[in-house]
Amino acid sequence: RQVIKVGLLGLGTVGRGVYRILIDNAESIKQRVGIELEVKKILVRSLEKNRGLDLPEGILTSNLGEIVDDPEINIVVEVLGGTNPTLDYVLEALRKGKSVVTANKDMVAEHGERLFAAAQQNNCDLLFEASVAGGIPIIRTLKQSLAANRIQEVFGIINGTTNYMLTKMTQEGSEFDDVLKEAQAQGYAESDPTADVGGFDAARKIAILSSIAFNTRVPLSRVYTEGITKISAEDIAYANELGYVIKLLGIAKSRDEGVEVRVHPTFIPKAHPLAAVGDVFNAVFVRGDAVGDTMFYGRGAGEMPTASAVVADVMDAARDLVRNVPGIIGCTCFEHRPVLEVGQTFSKYY
Ligand code: NAP
Ligand code: HSE
Repeated sequence: RQVIKVGLLGLGTVGRGVYRILIDNAESIKQRVGIELEVKKILVRSLEKNRGLDLPEGILTSNLGEIVDDPEINIVVEVLGGTNPTLDYVLEALRKGKSVVTANKDMVAEHGERLFAAAQQNNCDLLFEASVAGGIPIIRTLKQSLAANRIQEVFGIINGTTNYMLTKMTQEGSEFDDVLKEAQAQGYAESDPTADVGGFDAARKIAILSSIAFNTRVPLSRVYTEGITKISAEDIAYANELGYVIKLLGIAKSRDEGVEVRVHPTFIPKAHPLAAVGDVFNAVFVRGDAVGDTMFYGRGAGEMPTASAVVADVMDAARDLVRNVPGIIGCTCFEHRPVLEVGQTFSKYY
């Protein structure tokens, strides 16, 4: 093999970043993987839109077949978003034997089982580091670096948009609607921002993290979910007076009776490390029985941080192709633990 060809599905915020890194860092990527990576085709909706990129003639297409039916393309990167038609596109790519890299937490949280089965059947990689906490390497950490542990809890700030909003509302007294518009303009928010402010984006992410951490399947429907839409400037001021900040947390804990998984706004004492996590940053705590407490911090959304995670996955998929060992690791649920009902055993503390 001289070069591994990549098909990119989507050229929005994340897709642009992925394309930029693959071009700008091509030489060091080639040295690290041992082979050149080349984007051959990019699927978009509009062929006319100005992309602000220097793209080769004919690279854009609105025909999925030009990617999934091209035997030269070995890796498909999905950064379209949503589940319809994205799930069908990704299943089609896996059926055609392409390894898939995705940043799509909706799809992984809702259809993970089906996707992993398809990847396994077709002997393909299915990698999704960017689906949780943007540029922070938390999926790989749980699947590999902390794999020797029985994980006791995973919790933290896992939605950049709401953290950006709460930070601005706290520090500058900004209004909810204004800061949401700013987060959208920065490319942090989902295409439907109710997923961010309603807590659903964080719920998808904590469902993914807890499934991996506890080796069980945590259905999205069992994640208690409360967003920040009811948080007012007054709540933030009261919290401040009492020595707290308000953060939207995703929390997953292993209990004797099962696992509890929840998302809600939480009072955090000002001296706690999470209280200092501002702007679009995310932070995830993981407690393992062997390692003890660990904490991971970085930008949780945005073009380049997210693309950093996507391209690292593309490089892993390429290495697996070079060594001829594609396949999924660390995503098999071998325990079946009950997910506890809201109010059964837990209260809304972190
Ligand atoms: P985006 O800016 O809305 O870009 C979506 C891209 O997909 C656009 O280029 C769009 O084409 C294309 N597209 C959408 N539906 C299509 C279809 N049916 N056929 C062909 N092309 C289609 O989205 P994004 O912010 O990059 O997010 C992409 C994914 O990454 C989502 O799953 C999101 O949750 C995830 N993610 C995003 C971030 C972030 O900070 N933005 C961080 C982590 C994960 P046109 O350009 O022609 O409209
Ligand atoms: N909308 C998401 C966020 C993007 O703000 O965290 C990153 O997953």
